[in-house]
Amino acid sequence: MAKKIISLKVNGEPYELAVDPWRSLLDVLREDLNLGGVKAGCGQGECGACTVLVDNKAVNACLYLAAEANQREVMTIEGLAPDGRSLHPVQEAFIESGAVGCGHCTPGLIMSASHLLSRNQNPSRDEISQALNGHVCRCGAPAKAVGAVERAAQSLAPAKGE
Ligand code: FES
Repeated sequence: MAKKIISLKVNGEPYELAVDPWRSLLDVLREDLNLGGVKAGCGQGECGACTVLVDNKAVNACLYLAAEANQREVMTIEGLAPDGRSLHPVQEAFIESGAVGCGHCTPGLIMSASHLLSRNQNPSRDEISQALNGHVCRCGAPAKAVGAVERAAQSLAPAKGE
């Protein structure tokens, strides 16, 4: 089957890529663009390790065809930090809260958390738990992830009087 030419932005950088129509966005991000922060887990949409943002929606990159990303903007953990900073406040909050275990599920959790906070700056514990619900972890670190997201929400909240 002929390759498809796609144009997309990944972490703000424009790319034009020739991709097999059956290849997942996960494979293209990891193998073609060397973005190893996007983790490969189950490959079946069950574990959340591969979560990235496409046009600011959280998706499982393992189930998302690279060809579907044509003309879209993709953000991975590598592009999350704002200009001039090495880490996004959500990343800092995960570190400060000890919500990082072996690290395999962490990028996906952080992408889902930042997606939640971009829509809801003051989520309840239930809303946070729901947003992180699709993530599977083998080492137990996500038990602290809810607290990490609360901490991130506080650090992202505008200072009183602004
Ligand atoms: Fe995509 Fe598990 S690798 S959901």
